Amino acid sequence: MRGQSIDQKPQGYQDLSRFRVPRGFRGRGPIITLVWQLVQATLFGLSPQPCYGWRRFLLSVFGAKVGRGVLIRSSARVTYPWKVNFGDYCWIGDNAEIYSLGPITIGAHAVISQRSYICAGSHDFNDITFPLVARPVIIEPEVWVATRCFVAPGVTIGRGALVAAQSTVLTDVPAGMIVAGSPARMVRERRSPASKLGLDPKQ
Ligand SMILES: CC(C)(COP(=O)(O)OP(=O)(O)OC[C@H]1O[C@@H](n2cnc3c(N)ncnc32)[C@H](O)[C@@H]1OP(=O)(O)O)[C@@H](O)C(=O)NCCC(=O)NCCS
Repeated sequence: MRGQSIDQKPQGYQDLSRFRVPRGFRGRGPIITLVWQLVQATLFGLSPQPCYGWRRFLLSVFGAKVGRGVLIRSSARVTYPWKVNFGDYCWIGDNAEIYSLGPITIGAHAVISQRSYICAGSHDFNDITFPLVARPVIIEPEVWVATRCFVAPGVTIGRGALVAAQSTVLTDVPAGMIVAGSPARMVRERRSPASKLGLDPKQ
């Protein structure tokens, strides 16, 4: 507020002057990280929409494991490609964020829709130095994470599950379930074409 002075000294919650990125945390040196950020902003981010092969190539040059037929939009963002595994034929939508402070696996035929945020990093907020914490995220094959979802560090979303639009996923999702809301709760089972044919898709 105008006229009031706010104490600038930390009161014991978090002191960002003591924050450090731990040695080796990024998984590559600062120069490679900087080069990737430049590539992402230019060669990747400005590439015409149909140039999926070009973007697959750039990601694999920077250490991502990229399967066949992967479709990643040019506006999607990947923090550290060398920590990400993109399964065959998965799709990453416009403005989706793959925040790969820890390892992230996107299974084959999985979809991450527009503006969803797959988050594999956080901070230990009980430590005054506010240290980084990385936890893996696994999106199993045939999952659909619909638009504008948040998937928290450490979460596994089981095969074929569906996360409804604008949901917040804080805990593991069983295979084949539809979940919705914030925090996401189970809605019902997802009916697969295989189950309509009397086959069990989980076999
Ligand atoms: C999940 C989804 C596919 C709808 O599935 P559905 O089986 O037709 O679901 P229904 O509309 O019958 O809703 C089932 C229940 O889930 C709830 N629900 C569905 N979507 C929800 C959402 N996004 N958030 C919260 N609750 C939701 C409904 O309110 C309903 O609850 P109720 O049983 O208490 O009434 C749809 O809501 C969705 O999220 N689509 C994604 C669209 C998208 O992201 N498009 C852009 C990328 S292409």
